[in-house]
Amino acid sequence: MIVLGMESSAHTFGVGIVDNGKVLANEKAMYRIGTAGMIPGEVARFHAENAAEVLGMALEKAGISNNEIEGIGYTMGPGLGPCLEVAQLSAKTVAKKLGVPIVPVNHCAAHAEIARHFGRLADPIMLYVSGGNSQILVLEERPYLHYVVLGETFDIGVGNMLDSFARKLKLEPAWGSSIEKHSQGGRYIELPYTVKGMDFSFTGLATRATELIGEERLSDLCFSIQETAFSALCEATERAMLLKNKREIGICGGVAQNRKLREMLEEVGREHDAKFGFAPDEFNADNGGMVAYLAERMIGSGIKSRLEDCGIRQKYRVDTARLG
Ligand code: FE2
Repeated sequence: MIVLGMESSAHTFGVGIVDNGKVLANEKAMYRIGTAGMIPGEVARFHAENAAEVLGMALEKAGISNNEIEGIGYTMGPGLGPCLEVAQLSAKTVAKKLGVPIVPVNHCAAHAEIARHFGRLADPIMLYVSGGNSQILVLEERPYLHYVVLGETFDIGVGNMLDSFARKLKLEPAWGSSIEKHSQGGRYIELPYTVKGMDFSFTGLATRATELIGEERLSDLCFSIQETAFSALCEATERAMLLKNKREIGICGGVAQNRKLREMLEEVGREHDAKFGFAPDEFNADNGGMVAYLAERMIGSGIKSRLEDCGIRQKYRVDTARLG
């Protein structure tokens, strides 16, 4: 089945096309975030201005025409309201015009499922790390297929924590990737470390690291904030894996692009003979391909939605999303 997926929950407007689980196109336009961070109305305007072009690029890349599309998926949430509206409205317009089924997709589940697909993982403990979210997930089949949250951040997502620290350090680009770059050669400074069972917290860490700006070397700060946050994530993931008796670990979401975090998590897996897997970077960043991929599976499993029920949910929890 050829399914088109649309994503616009944050800074990226993405359109993906899949055919029987194979991604034919994964095109996107990304809003450049300045020092002020993301202003939802402005980002939504960017998405609306780029939607038609990105859709056209995806159709061209996949080598298909509009009327070959057999189903549509879009990100219902979680995300920024004005941004979510753009993919929702675009997807509904196309579905209505073509008369094909449409399903609302949970953004977090889409990240996890695309990582499970590319990482060739059957039933992993999945560490989902992005700007707004940081959770440890596991699949549950009853009463229907869905993800259960075993642990999560008490406050902010690890991605937002690293991005805002990059802004405070005035790094360019002001993203977590700059922290990773500047962490090379850094030495460890002790910073607040908070893990409670399978939950974790990052605000104390961010506050202390911010206090030390100007007092400690840039590379030491970048190295230590990563080391501390990632150790917390790895400790909680390891505990979840042992508790659930799993032998696979996956990582997904924007922060899954961080090489250091992947190395640390792979090491956790190695210690327990657990397989480690993840998706290529373009599918860890926000993208339409993952939405199309999950939508095809949902439609294939018989999930149906009425056009009038296709709204947005800014705080759409992954554990309430039915996947099959
Ligand atoms: Fe995301």
